[in-house]
Amino acid sequence: MAEDRVKQIIITGASRGFGRDLAFHLAGGDTILHLIARSDMSELAQELETRGAVVRIWQQDLTQTGSLDKLMGEIAKDIASGSPGFIGLVNNAGMIEPVGPAGKYDFQAYKKNLEINFMVPLLLTHAFIQQFRVSRAVKRVIMISSGAASKPYHGWSHYGSTKAGVEMFARTVSIEQEKTDHPVQILTFNPGRIGTDMQKIIRETSREDFPMVDDFISAWEDGEIGKSEEIAAKLAKMMLIEHFPSGESLSVRDL
Ligand SMILES: NC(=O)c1ccc[n+]([C@@H]2O[C@H](COP(=O)([O-])OP(=O)(O)OC[C@H]3O[C@@H](n4cnc5c(N)ncnc54)[C@H](OP(=O)(O)O)[C@@H]3O)[C@@H](O)[C@H]2O)c1
Repeated sequence: MAEDRVKQIIITGASRGFGRDLAFHLAGGDTILHLIARSDMSELAQELETRGAVVRIWQQDLTQTGSLDKLMGEIAKDIASGSPGFIGLVNNAGMIEPVGPAGKYDFQAYKKNLEINFMVPLLLTHAFIQQFRVSRAVKRVIMISSGAASKPYHGWSHYGSTKAGVEMFARTVSIEQEKTDHPVQILTFNPGRIGTDMQKIIRETSREDFPMVDDFISAWEDGEIGKSEEIAAKLAKMMLIEHFPSGESLSVRDL
């Protein structure tokens, strides 16, 4: 691989769902993928390597937030050895549980949700900016958001507010980075409802905890849920376009 053509892309939550689909659409020659999740991803890595990508697996529980700077430091050391032309981070890992009104659920479960949906993407982005601050590569971060960032859903107080926070973080970092010599570009992307494990968990929630559950069930039965592979394909293309709209909060309708 010619070094300046090499793309190094980190994806959190790559073991299944949208992150996995995105990894498939980003895999190819000249690409080194760094996949992060708790599950074993060795079979996934083999499949991706048949598409020409080089794959590095970082099997880790991201809610161990005290070690995220060390994790990004190790990934950065690996990336720096290749002098890439493009370095990307997709903050995709997320969870919806526990669903229900604030005050009802177990404190630790609620805290874990806030960590994976909010603290983790912010801390990883912070470490990414720090580690690659002198790199002249094209540097891009995509934060996976949700329609719940701008609309309140009964039972999702944690989820909606973390995604709203992530959107404000990205808008703020984008204006900060514009003023730097080697800026990181950053945006948020709402994929809309997509047919992954997360939607299955939503459909299995009680009406008491999530009064909109019937709407989600009928959308599923009527085939109105987006196809994760198709939306991932569009996002993969957008990640590499020449004019990346840093600072924007995009949704699937914008691609
Ligand atoms: N599905 C939807 O309808 C929908 C709609 C809007 C936005 N989104 C957003 O899209 C993103 C992807 O969601 P999805 O639907 O693909 O969800 P999913 O199928 O449940 O996958 C979640 C991914 O996150 C990883 N993950 C969860 N907790 C983790 C932890 N503690 N440490 C490391 N990795 C962890 C999981 O890997 P392991 O379990 O292997 O760790 C898995 O790879 C999320 O940010 C979600 O909020 C989804």
